[in-house]
Amino acid sequence: YRTLRIALLGAGSVGSQVATLLLEHSDELAQRVGARLVLSGIAVRDLETDRGPGVPRELLTTDAEELIVGSDIVIELMGGITPAREYILLALRSGADVITGNKALLATHGPELFDLAQQVGAQLYYEAAVGGAIPIIRPLRDSLAGDRVQRILGIVNGTTNYILDRMDRGGDDLESALAAATELGYAEADPTGDIEGYDAAQKAAILAGLAFHTTVPIASVYREGITGVRAEDVEAARKAGYVVKLLAICERITDPETGSEGVSARVYPALIPRDHPLAAVRGANNAVFVEAEAAGSLMFYGAGAGGRETASAVLGDLVSAARRHVIGGPGVAESTQADLPVFDIGKVSTRY
Ligand code: HSE
Repeated sequence: YRTLRIALLGAGSVGSQVATLLLEHSDELAQRVGARLVLSGIAVRDLETDRGPGVPRELLTTDAEELIVGSDIVIELMGGITPAREYILLALRSGADVITGNKALLATHGPELFDLAQQVGAQLYYEAAVGGAIPIIRPLRDSLAGDRVQRILGIVNGTTNYILDRMDRGGDDLESALAAATELGYAEADPTGDIEGYDAAQKAAILAGLAFHTTVPIASVYREGITGVRAEDVEAARKAGYVVKLLAICERITDPETGSEGVSARVYPALIPRDHPLAAVRGANNAVFVEAEAAGSLMFYGAGAGGRETASAVLGDLVSAARRHVIGGPGVAESTQADLPVFDIGKVSTRY
């Protein structure tokens, strides 16, 4: 196998799981992409923090720039705008493909990064930026690219869904539910971004841009968080047959004043009828409900937050990026794994 050098920037809840899984599944991934993915280093701010048994200390470095320049693929999972933006620009300029989960950066500086990537012939992958483990970027960018998306209804913040779900089940207030969500690793380092709807608004801007093939500036996304939602509101909604969810709504609309066609993206707590598929999204799960002209309604559902879950999306991007290096093109190779036996075990059970 040839070798591809992978740099990881950040070893927080997602980064440390990416490192762990990459090292654990190294042989299988090599077979799958036709190249050995060598984790050449992990850039962190503090060398002393314990990052768990899956993150070898000897890979840690504080010199992100040196690590970036010598790499084929750079994975940015440090979050925030500075220095993540500078590091990604450096990576692209040095000829590396970049994988990021940084929704704040994409929602505010996306065009700058995509333009540079295009100029230098590199690729920027960001499946982990929206909906944690849920594949939603590729479906919108690729699978539905021939259709016309009309509307997206998304539960795209795990922390607030977890909090509202706990309130819906009764007996919990926002503060104690938030403390539990933080403990479970769902919330951002500063959970204000979650509960005030900033995180969901960033994701709405990314989804709307992809779905409607345009750029949606974060400043034009209407945003309201869940801090104003009281236990009695949730209870009243429940009695009336509704559930309260923080929704990201992205849709094609006609401006009532000018009559011109455009798009709208907005985030606020909304009432959902209990029989809508989105009402069944409990805990820290996320779901993106897409209405497209030809395809009709589709729902993408799964773990919207959590280190190991989100790491799955990052590793999927890594496989795509690595295949692009190996075979060229956009990285769409099929993989066959030789020698895996197929067992015919009949009809085991009619229940699951
Ligand atoms: N804090 C985010 C959430 C993490 O709760 O959804 C995933 O982006």
